[in-house]
Amino acid sequence: MNGTTDTVPADQPWDESHLSKYFFHTDPIPRLSCTDPQALQLIAQEKPVVLTDTKLCDTALKWDLDYLAANMGTERYMVFLSKNHKFKYYDEAKIKLYKTNFVPPTRRLDMTFSEFVKKLRDWKPGDERVYLQQGLNNTVGQGIVVDFLQFNWQWLNIQQKTNNWGPLTSNLLLVGMEGNVTPVHYDEQQNFFCQLVGYKRCILFAPEHYERLYPYPVYHPHDRQSQVDFNEPDLESFPGLEGLRGVEAVVGPGEVLYIPMYWWHQIESLPCLGNTVSVNFWYKGGPTEKIEYPLKPRQKLAIMRNVEKMLLEALKEPAEVGSLLRSLVLGRYTGDEAMKLEAGGKL
Ligand code: FUM
Ligand code: FE
Repeated sequence: MNGTTDTVPADQPWDESHLSKYFFHTDPIPRLSCTDPQALQLIAQEKPVVLTDTKLCDTALKWDLDYLAANMGTERYMVFLSKNHKFKYYDEAKIKLYKTNFVPPTRRLDMTFSEFVKKLRDWKPGDERVYLQQGLNNTVGQGIVVDFLQFNWQWLNIQQKTNNWGPLTSNLLLVGMEGNVTPVHYDEQQNFFCQLVGYKRCILFAPEHYERLYPYPVYHPHDRQSQVDFNEPDLESFPGLEGLRGVEAVVGPGEVLYIPMYWWHQIESLPCLGNTVSVNFWYKGGPTEKIEYPLKPRQKLAIMRNVEKMLLEALKEPAEVGSLLRSLVLGRYTGDEAMKLEAGGKL
């Protein structure tokens, strides 16, 4: 699928050949005007939507490498280097907690923007790939600040208010090489993902796919990441993958993808189409709504995270969390005998 409607815009530079083939089915994410009531309804229901005309970051559509090199400032910014095309996130603070030999899949090297641009421009096959991921904070230059202040804050503030979201916590600037991939993971915040330069394929899965994507334990440095590699799916270890179904879209300059909190997502800079630049807007979720039953999949996910955290706090030893949960479940909450017990012996 191409993630769009059936008609392909004349200026669309990508086609099926830019999209890796995966083992799961996807449907297109709706692409709508931000004035379309259906778009607002999707955001309110925490469902993904591509908004084509928010004018959210129009002043940043000129943020190509040359403009950023001239305006970003002279400080060192956060750059990740990877021996392959994948940039799987890890939590540096959790490496110490997780006492086994965790080997980070990428390395972080802070550098000036011009050092980063040089690495990008000199890159040849076999070299480490690079991905700049820097929060837009007080380290950025005046030119960037001026553009930032002219973002469509009015529209954003309306969304935040209408959907009862908490505060904007950060804006991350992502400058990547064509072909870079952020593997499938979920975030604990609402995200307006704004594409500025180049094209990104965004593949999303609803929170009810929690078990089908086998997240790492909460205390693991790869917390919130899936253990599944879409290029080499291990169906024997992860049988739930059989039923995986997603939604996807390719977003281009000026488009905004709403990535709801707790939705799994994999983001891929399309190959062969140049560098990509994006900015995301992360908002805290709203205060706990009136609890209604049955609970929503994302509320169950939050419960599971809290249970894991509580157990770790009590046991003090990450390796014991899994074995305690296993003892709790095996023989009590699985198998025919357990079903009989639950059904009051009537099965
Ligand atoms: O690579 C990316 O653009 C990832 C963004 C995200 O996970 O929010
Ligand atoms: Fe993310």
